[in-house]
Amino acid sequence: MSAQIISGKDLSATIRAELGARAAELAAEHGVTPGLATVLVGENPASQMYVGMKNKAAEAAGLSSRQITVPEATSQEELLGVVAGLNADPAVHGILVQLPLPGHIDEGTIIEAISPSKDVDGLHPVNAGRLATGSGKFFAPCTPAGVVEMLMRSGHDPEGKHVVVAGRSNLVGQPLANLLLRKAPGGNATVTVCHSRTRDLAAVTRTAEILVVAIGRPEMITADMVRPGAVVIDVGTHRVDDPGSEKGYRVCGDVLFDEVKEVASAISPSPGGVGPMTITMLLANTVTSAARAAGVG
Ligand code: GUN
Repeated sequence: MSAQIISGKDLSATIRAELGARAAELAAEHGVTPGLATVLVGENPASQMYVGMKNKAAEAAGLSSRQITVPEATSQEELLGVVAGLNADPAVHGILVQLPLPGHIDEGTIIEAISPSKDVDGLHPVNAGRLATGSGKFFAPCTPAGVVEMLMRSGHDPEGKHVVVAGRSNLVGQPLANLLLRKAPGGNATVTVCHSRTRDLAAVTRTAEILVVAIGRPEMITADMVRPGAVVIDVGTHRVDDPGSEKGYRVCGDVLFDEVKEVASAISPSPGGVGPMTITMLLANTVTSAARAAGVG
């Protein structure tokens, strides 16, 4: 059996076109152009690349975007000042401070300084809390939101199914479990969360009708860990040495793709899977924030 490929790249193209239309409508009918501000501290090459991709995607979808880059030595007070300025700016509907931050800055303090109504990363405790309690308007973190969107749009509604989430991070595993448990579209699943300390991880992952892997180890999930016919979503992205290739490296996920695609009924690749969807959901949250600012969200 060869699996259906769930392409985050293709789904993203569709969703970004929808968001572009919505952004144009908000501008034409309400005079509000959705605005994203990204904040980059220092010169971490991976962070530079990710922030650049986010701003480029925002502009391509018709949003306005602004990147604020400050030196590595910026103090916590100075960074709090940048965040306060963006909180007060009516042209900015979404604020993303790229993580990780330098060691002398407390990430929690910065995240909590972002206005929850502009926290399109969904990391502020108010947003995390509202997701967990199901009360009020919130922004879901972009990677878990992207996973749910991929499942829904590829015909794999998690409702009533047993979903196993491998990984328990604040950024992915934990909010994803909460999203899947919600009494709402994209939710209503039976959810098991497992992680690096789980006894006999393979015995747990094999019970999944839908397996989402966000464990952070290259190609750790092998075919024997997957129930035949399962839907597999791979959140991992890693650069691994590959002396045989032109670049000397290749990019892979947490799942051993070539092997698992023979057992799964559907699988997302990496690259080209969850990665593009994460950026797409950042744009979606920013458009939603702008719609709320215009009184129509
Ligand atoms: N660094 C890696 N992933 C993320 C993310 O989702 N949001 C932010 N702000 N930083 C990140």
